[in-house]
Amino acid sequence: MHLNIAILPGDGIGPEVTAEAVNILKAVGELGGHTFTFTEALIGGIAITETGSPLPDATLDLALSSDAVLLGAVGDNKFNALPPEKRPEAGLLRIRKELGGFANLRPSVAYPALAGSSPLKPEVTDGADILFVRELLGGLYFGTPRWWNRDTDAPGGGEAINTMRYTRAEIVRVARIAFELAAQRRGKLTSVDKANVLEVSQLWRATVSELASEYPGVNLDHQFVDSMAMHLMNTPRNFDVVLTENLFGDILSDEAAVITGSLGLLPSATIGGEVNLYEPVHGSAPDIAGTGKANPLGAILTAAMILRHSARLEPDAQAIEAAVNHVLTAGHRTADIARGNSGATVTTKQMGRLVHQALAESIDRRQAMHAV
Ligand code: IPM
Ligand code: MG
Repeated sequence: MHLNIAILPGDGIGPEVTAEAVNILKAVGELGGHTFTFTEALIGGIAITETGSPLPDATLDLALSSDAVLLGAVGDNKFNALPPEKRPEAGLLRIRKELGGFANLRPSVAYPALAGSSPLKPEVTDGADILFVRELLGGLYFGTPRWWNRDTDAPGGGEAINTMRYTRAEIVRVARIAFELAAQRRGKLTSVDKANVLEVSQLWRATVSELASEYPGVNLDHQFVDSMAMHLMNTPRNFDVVLTENLFGDILSDEAAVITGSLGLLPSATIGGEVNLYEPVHGSAPDIAGTGKANPLGAILTAAMILRHSARLEPDAQAIEAAVNHVLTAGHRTADIARGNSGATVTTKQMGRLVHQALAESIDRRQAMHAV
């Protein structure tokens, strides 16, 4: 298997965590005889500083000509005063749009070893295994008109507008992915909306409902986003695949980090477009950048998603996930998941090395079994 992967480390802890994910991919490549190539490029605040643009043309060209894109994180407090279109985040939104992936898959799993890291009771989180399918190219993030009239003296001044807009076709394409994934999992799909208030949500609910008859193996239900936020914490085990529009998914997937124990553990894959885009869910966390405190597991689990969705190397994806599980079960913790753990915490690099070791051992075992 050959795969060209564009690496866009970005800002804050992005470079530290992507370095660990790349190490893991290199290990899988070497152990399995695959050639993975990695080419780095700038995005976000660092790209603004070095080139004046949050998404330089060279980065976009590289991304579009790669088989997969791994992005660390973007965002830097230095740019907080800038309008949205000039901020590091504008580079992220633009690359998402240009690559075309509209279905952002965000799994949130309760690891038994981390039961003590979640503020939720273990009997609530035990066995929870949720896959969010967040629509990524529509809604308030991209809808027009959008503007902010900063001139408070002008007529209409001091007013700002964003638009939540979806077409039926945009809802259908992401809903189909959610139905298909639900059919491969436990057959349950929860679609999230605010259909008691928003026309967009009424279209969303009607469109998703129409598709249900094509997927007889999937049990569809609908939840309003506000009550979903509560059910997610009360009964996370009740959910299998959760389908949301862009902003609702942004909010609920951060909330779901509480089930896992830390945002630092959540991976994501964006599929459906020209080139798949892979990003850990956590942001750039500038407060801990360079301290060795960042959790690389979100990025490492994102690497597993590259193998699953872009390389079709499911056994290797599972081997990475098993290695992460193994390391957590052995009691190793970065600072963000240290709650309730008596052992010493490990650094970003140490955590990366531990996963690497566990992975190498398990791939060796697998190869030994095949050799028999
Ligand atoms: C995420 C992030 C981004 C988003 C930001 C950084 C633009 O919060 O991937 O969840 O809102 O989509
Ligand atoms: Mg977010």
